[in-house]
Amino acid sequence: MPNTILIGAQWGDEGKGKIIDVLTERADWVVRAQGGNNAGHTVEIGEERFVLHLVPSGILHEGKRCVIGNGVVLDPVALVEEINGVRERGFEVEGRLFISDRAHVVFPYHRMLDAQGEARKAKGDQIGTTQRGIGPTYSDKAARFGLRMCDLVDPGFPDLLRARVEEKNRVLAAMGAPVADYAEVLASTQEAMTVLGPLVCDTVPLLHAAVQAGEEILFEGAQGIMLDIDFGTYPYVTSSNAGSGGASTGSGVPPNRMHRVVGVLKAYTTRVGEGPFPTELHDAAGEELRKVGREFGATTGRPRRCGWFDAVVARHAVMTCGVDEWALTKLDVLDGFDRIKICTAYELDGKRIEHFPANVREVARCTPVYEELPGWKTPTRGARSLADLPEAARRYLARLEEVTGAPAGILSLGPRREDTLFPEARA
Ligand code: GDP
Ligand code: IMO
Ligand code: MG
Repeated sequence: MPNTILIGAQWGDEGKGKIIDVLTERADWVVRAQGGNNAGHTVEIGEERFVLHLVPSGILHEGKRCVIGNGVVLDPVALVEEINGVRERGFEVEGRLFISDRAHVVFPYHRMLDAQGEARKAKGDQIGTTQRGIGPTYSDKAARFGLRMCDLVDPGFPDLLRARVEEKNRVLAAMGAPVADYAEVLASTQEAMTVLGPLVCDTVPLLHAAVQAGEEILFEGAQGIMLDIDFGTYPYVTSSNAGSGGASTGSGVPPNRMHRVVGVLKAYTTRVGEGPFPTELHDAAGEELRKVGREFGATTGRPRRCGWFDAVVARHAVMTCGVDEWALTKLDVLDGFDRIKICTAYELDGKRIEHFPANVREVARCTPVYEELPGWKTPTRGARSLADLPEAARRYLARLEEVTGAPAGILSLGPRREDTLFPEARA
């Protein structure tokens, strides 16, 4: 049974939640291995719409088991809220959701430091974070000052927390910022732990046993490769490895137990937050993509920046994540366009380049090299096979596969489960 890593192949919000929901049908386990509640994964089932931030999207399938792995940074209060929401809508988590005792914890002072960090940066240097405390929590993890879920269930937790709050308050006070209230942080965390405590365990042997038993594991990536701390548009990135490598380090399932990588790729490009974005549109076409694609953040509600498809980005995902196949989403959003552009390379200081530069100042100087394809001006939603698609849509798809070097194994034409094609049988 293949273990599948699903990653975002652009700047996040590619439709990972929807594709995970479709693939969960065949899986036994769904595992989150990085990121935190900066993620917002939307799943539409019939008339119902769910937005999941920390709980793996697999929770919406009865009987499937879900893991929040060691690589995730977890805000206990936010997680309890989310669990309550999921429960209210009829999905049980007891015996189905397992939280790694090695996962690092996001505390209110991390969120305060996140906000301060952004506010204190010069205009233009801001990252545009989700202000969920993600960066400061991963910083503490790397600085070996973080607290993990295993510390929260330890009798010595109050003292461990006190030392952290005192230290962080010194930093906040030096910034002239409001400080955290130790008693309040302790109380809210302990209250959250009455719900989370029973779900915390060592998830390593759990997943090892699943692998041994040949059960199928689906890794639900968060963010996207261009937000990856190593391969993204640093420093305009998140603080974890959002690429396929993060699935192993963030779960304890080793690389040689992984079998397949699915890259989720939007048929155009979006980005939320700051940082360079070579194919960004500031014209009517960009507006149209935002409107038709309903491109507003699932976590912060911010309007997403929109642009044409960028094959340089997609090839970067293929190289760094080993994408075997694409799940190509939101092709339906292009239904109304007369002409559609694909960026196949960049021009940088008069030279054509095929690969994504490391230096963001160079990225900002890149201009896209476009080719233009005719639109299809026909609704694609409702198509049940490739043969049902207009000729021009099939040509666009084929060209994306050519310029990115990977095939589309899944094609998504709408937010719901049923709006999904598996084009293996090419028409
Ligand atoms: P994620 O973070 O990658 O899970 O993506 P988000 O949930 O943040 O954003 C994707 C949005 O597009 C959600 O509102 C989905 O319901 C929606 N969506 C997913 N796939 C499709 C599709 O193929 N067509 C359309 N029109 N919407 C889609
Ligand atoms: P999903 O999983 C889109 C962006 C933020 C900001 C940068 C750093 O839904 O695709 P952070 O709060 O992580 O320190 O912010 O990363 N960002 C996302 N953008 N989708 C996401 O998740 C994101 N998670 C973080 O907007 O630019
Ligand atoms: Mg999202």
